[in-house]
Amino acid sequence: MALTFTNLLELEEMARAKVSRATFDYIAGGAEDEVSLRRNREAFGRWALRPRVLRDVSKRDTRTVLLGERVSMPVCVAPTSFHALVHPDGEVATARGTAAAETILIASTIATTPLEEIAAAVEAPRWFQLYVYRDRAVTEELVHRAVKAGYKALCLTADTPVLGRRERDERNAFTLPPGFGIANLRPAGLDGMPKVDHGSAFATYVANLLDASLTWDDVDWLKSASPLPLIIKGIMTAEDAVLAVEHGVAGIVVSNHGGRQLDSTLGSLDALPDVVAAVRGRIEVYLDGGIRRGTDVLKALALGAKAVLLGRPVLWGLALGGADGVRAVLDQLRTELDTAMALTGRATVKDIDANVVVRTP
Ligand SMILES: Cc1cc2nc3c(=O)[nH]c(=O)nc-3n(C[C@H](O)[C@H](O)[C@H](O)COP(=O)(O)O)c2cc1C
Repeated sequence: MALTFTNLLELEEMARAKVSRATFDYIAGGAEDEVSLRRNREAFGRWALRPRVLRDVSKRDTRTVLLGERVSMPVCVAPTSFHALVHPDGEVATARGTAAAETILIASTIATTPLEEIAAAVEAPRWFQLYVYRDRAVTEELVHRAVKAGYKALCLTADTPVLGRRERDERNAFTLPPGFGIANLRPAGLDGMPKVDHGSAFATYVANLLDASLTWDDVDWLKSASPLPLIIKGIMTAEDAVLAVEHGVAGIVVSNHGGRQLDSTLGSLDALPDVVAAVRGRIEVYLDGGIRRGTDVLKALALGAKAVLLGRPVLWGLALGGADGVRAVLDQLRTELDTAMALTGRATVKDIDANVVVRTP
């Protein structure tokens, strides 16, 4: 039966019954007091839309181009882990649903499906999100495999030197159930979660294996390690945005990791204007965190983002309806964006300028 819903906000409650408590909390939760998580949504409420009327919006076009790839809308699928926890077809279903919606999937390093199988699932542009392992040979191998499998860009997640303190996962002693693993790391023997007495096994995995010593020098190294354009995900300040430009990356994602890393940051949308001002159009700027409505996409674009990434709603769609559920979520957001464009008098993505929004008093 096709997944029916009215908007992306209701999906979380709909999905609650479909997945285990530990999985639900892992996906829905944020770090510590979940202030960053809440602020991501609240930030959109601080901006109001300024509709222009009588501008012939009979023909509308939500399409755009991201790093040379044509997409049906300025919305991509954010990298998220462990899709097999919510659907047996895992990332393969996500890849199919994303391709059906004609946009880009950013596949996570810590997927439950090998990157080659995701690539083979469907012919569509996709990018690879990279976590850097302390063992650089392991990291280089991941990069080479992504290049070989036809991924079109690398997305380095820079906000995870250690895992944020996700207290729901601590309480639930979150780990991967038997039979699930971090498939890309199977050849390196790093696919399993450690056994821990209490707390989150995943947090221990990250502490043991990911490289907390990363610096901008490593960005230069990564650039030289592959011919792919490099995107840095997890930028929240103008200072780091300028460094990203100086280090020659192709794009950045303004993101607080969906409120899952450092708690008590700004909502990501509130960090966007300073970053956009600092970048001065030199590279593509994307935003994620709390996108749930077409009007959210419109606001992010009006404030200077070239596109947004969608995290949790895609996982809820996957849980509820597999590939079709993922497609339905993305189609819904595109429909809402199209409506918002019509009602603000913007027929094309290029028409979405800074005048669309005003800060609420
Ligand atoms: C369950 C889950 C797993 C995630 N896994 C990753 C990951 O493997 N790599 C990464 O860079 N970001 C990861 N993220 C962060 C997302 O890429 C994105 O920044 C965030 O989900 C966007 O916020 P939203 O969920 O409010 O749309 C994850 C987020 C969630 C909810």
